[in-house]
Amino acid sequence: MSTSNDDKHDDEAEAATAVVDDVEGEPGLTEAPPCDPYLAATRGLAVQHGWSVAPDEIELHELIGRGTTADIHRATWRGLDVAVKWMRPELFLSNASAEAFFAQELDVLSRQRHPHVLRLMGACLRPPESCFLVTELLSGATLGEWLHGGKERRRERPPGSVLPSLAERVSRALEIALAMRYLHEQTPRVLHRDLKPSNVLLDGDSRVRVSDFGHARFLPDGTEALTGETGTYVYMAPEVIRCEPYTEKCDVYSFGVILNELLTGEHPYIDTSYGPSKVRLPSSCL
Ligand SMILES: Nc1ncnc2c1ncn2[C@@H]1O[C@H](COP(=O)(O)OP(=O)(O)O)[C@@H](O)[C@H]1O
Ligand SMILES: [Mg+2]
Repeated sequence: MSTSNDDKHDDEAEAATAVVDDVEGEPGLTEAPPCDPYLAATRGLAVQHGWSVAPDEIELHELIGRGTTADIHRATWRGLDVAVKWMRPELFLSNASAEAFFAQELDVLSRQRHPHVLRLMGACLRPPESCFLVTELLSGATLGEWLHGGKERRRERPPGSVLPSLAERVSRALEIALAMRYLHEQTPRVLHRDLKPSNVLLDGDSRVRVSDFGHARFLPDGTEALTGETGTYVYMAPEVIRCEPYTEKCDVYSFGVILNELLTGEHPYIDTSYGPSKVRLPSSCL
């Protein structure tokens, strides 16, 4: 999750005190702990729109992914096979802005409906112990694993793995482009800000779902946007690395790096020591 200083909810999060919110109608809960105002509002929306999930509705199964801020499990919810992204409790105990960032991830994802964007089914917003997203379960690999035949970044393909056909690779690029166009055409626009192969998941038919909205932000019309560093250097637009203002075009840059990777079948910058992290950063970013 981002720790950039540009977020409009930072101040609210810093000021978060003992706001006791109304949880009437939320299944399985009688008492609300203190929480950030943005998180409280998002929880209100979840209850109102029927996507609030109580922890005891979830049967957790094996771990299927480990992110920077969360563990991802296969789970059963109301008889459905789902994925549960469970935020680590330490995150909320150690970072005053974490509740607002979690609220933002949910707020963004809960409004998206597109065949190539990961589908949110519900969520629990009870920090620090019970903050999780319930999403569709994808059985395929990440785009990076699908393309390179393994998790590791290495020059040679693992023995026995075959590069998918050019037609398949172009189809994946088209699916990502459709998802990103949809996000950028929303009002307000949605910037993903961390588009990279490990955040593009594939279903059992190898169809794309753009996922991980932990860095995503809304960008109101007419504004130029945000400053502050986020995302992953290799796929990150120069203006973002340099902490200059940027718009949804930062996602277009990331898409360009992924498109090149799909067409060549090579990791970006694999043959050079001059990667984007060597771009000289202004001292304000250090
Ligand atoms: N819905 C899902 N279905 C299957 N695997 C998933 C799902 N969501 C996440 N994963 C796995 O967990 C990893 C980390 O998830 P992600 O949302 O990117 O977490 P983080 O925000 O911590 O990076 C992904 O790269 C993927 O391997
Ligand atoms: Mg991720």
